[in-house]
Amino acid sequence: MKIEALTVFPGMFDDVMSTSILGRARERGIFEFEAHDLRDWTHDRHRTVDDAPYGGGQGMLMKVEPIAEALDDIIPRTPSCHVVFFTPCGARFDQHVAERLASQERILFVCGRYEGMDERAYAYADECLSIGDYVLTGGELAAMVVTDAIVRLLPGALGDEQSSKDESFATGERGGLLEYAQYTRPATFRGQDVPEVLLSGDHARIAQWRRHDALERTCRWRPDLIDAADLTAEECLEAAVLIERYHGSHTPEE
Ligand code: ADE
Repeated sequence: MKIEALTVFPGMFDDVMSTSILGRARERGIFEFEAHDLRDWTHDRHRTVDDAPYGGGQGMLMKVEPIAEALDDIIPRTPSCHVVFFTPCGARFDQHVAERLASQERILFVCGRYEGMDERAYAYADECLSIGDYVLTGGELAAMVVTDAIVRLLPGALGDEQSSKDESFATGERGGLLEYAQYTRPATFRGQDVPEVLLSGDHARIAQWRRHDALERTCRWRPDLIDAADLTAEECLEAAVLIERYHGSHTPEE
């Protein structure tokens, strides 16, 4: 897979793309990354990429011409380029979107800055994404977050194939819950013991405890995830009790 970013701050990506799992995945050829400097497609002495909005208002907008010229140049370089614009007005990024994007061959992230972008630039977007309901100073951090979430799903990126399956937000059968609590040595730390069952070596009981812990944590911290989680009938009843306990009344969706 190749991931590219169009940005006015290409240097922002350097450390993130060469450190830890992402760095190793790049070294092993699991993904390639290239940042393009938007200013390379400007023609004036100041390499201007922004201008004041028509109709007035605060701040500056990114101009359409450098973006259009850059995309006309970059997109056709290889076939099948999926173009993603980052904006707080985009669809919410989540694990399902990460999984869908992980199957693309080539993705180009377009990172907005300033107060937004001339609307005509969005004609190039295959999709617009937001990483959450808050406003960042630009799309670069969003592009790095999304790249991280995608790359760790690529075969071979994490040492253990299982580790991206059995975790919070893992989708598919019995998916959709937060991850269960985990512990490592020592067995007792400042008076807090690791749950006895995890020391028992009884794998069936351990699996049962983990499933229940995942259900409990999700009901407590993210009850909004319960309706979409893949639960057994018994777990649905238990979730209703847990949500009532932690948050007061809960009416499951029909
Ligand atoms: N640019 C500014 N805020 C953003 C957000 N929340 N997600 C993606 N891109 C953004």
